[in-house]
Amino acid sequence: MINFSQFSKNKIESLFEKSLQLKTLTNAQNFSPSTALNPSEPLVQVGRGQTAALLFFEPSTRTRFSFEAACARAGYHPMVLDGGIGTSLEKGETVTDTILNIEAMRPLFFVIRCNNDLNLQEVAKGLSVPVINAGWGLQGHPTQALLDTLSLFEKWQSLTKKKILFVGDVKHSRVVASHFELSQILNYEIGICAPTEFLPTSEKHENFKYFEKLEDALEWADAVMALRVQKERHDGSFFDVVNYRKKFGLNSERLSKVSPKTLIMHPGPINYGVELEKEVLNDPRSLVLQQVENGVFLREALIRNLFKETL
Ligand code: CP
Repeated sequence: MINFSQFSKNKIESLFEKSLQLKTLTNAQNFSPSTALNPSEPLVQVGRGQTAALLFFEPSTRTRFSFEAACARAGYHPMVLDGGIGTSLEKGETVTDTILNIEAMRPLFFVIRCNNDLNLQEVAKGLSVPVINAGWGLQGHPTQALLDTLSLFEKWQSLTKKKILFVGDVKHSRVVASHFELSQILNYEIGICAPTEFLPTSEKHENFKYFEKLEDALEWADAVMALRVQKERHDGSFFDVVNYRKKFGLNSERLSKVSPKTLIMHPGPINYGVELEKEVLNDPRSLVLQQVENGVFLREALIRNLFKETL
């Protein structure tokens, strides 16, 4: 799963149903220790202690831990590479050789986060087991887009014709790149509100609706996703935080004028005081931590279905 090329609307919606079923069963289990000792059929450990390789060549908290949790819950033992410190990458071994050597240890699947220097598509073609993209350079972050839309599906039961607004650093966002693809499958609309230097450059984004003023964009949206300003991907040019926060930051005052039904999201990690104020997390419309919670169930459902013909 490098992108959504093999995914239909039906397939994705059944993945969502499965994720929510896992969530319901888990929540029920938490209240009843006896069910934890006697798991029902859908919670069977399909991995049976086999290994999965989780290779994170770039930093991660949410994606890495949720894949680890998902592996544990599904019965796979995760072998984790976290940034490469303490591995032979430090001795100059290449990323490609690292992957080949870990493949020789026969994990049943790979989860890989890497930068643009690696052609993940080509790497996946060369491996004999499935590869899940856990964030690849600027190319995409499909499981993030899925957990975002799962969180909306949980509220709305369908994404069709819904309006999702992305505010901020769209240009450097692999999350938006994946939403562009996913929106074509699930039929939701995408709006963008961003300063000129953060606007996407690809003509692929022509179908987006663009807003200059955040107030107009918020009025249009059914859900708004603030994006992290990705300073590490910028070219070092001056970034005016004060002006950005004033024009594009989400805060209680601004959101008090927005419909009580408009949902508020962020893929994380958050730069508080830049794209979003901490107080927004307490807004009853905020899904930020539900996105993280749903990320475990979405990834668990994905892993449980990896070796099935259909989802
Ligand atoms: N949203 C996301 O990918 O977060 P991490 O970088 O912490 O995994």
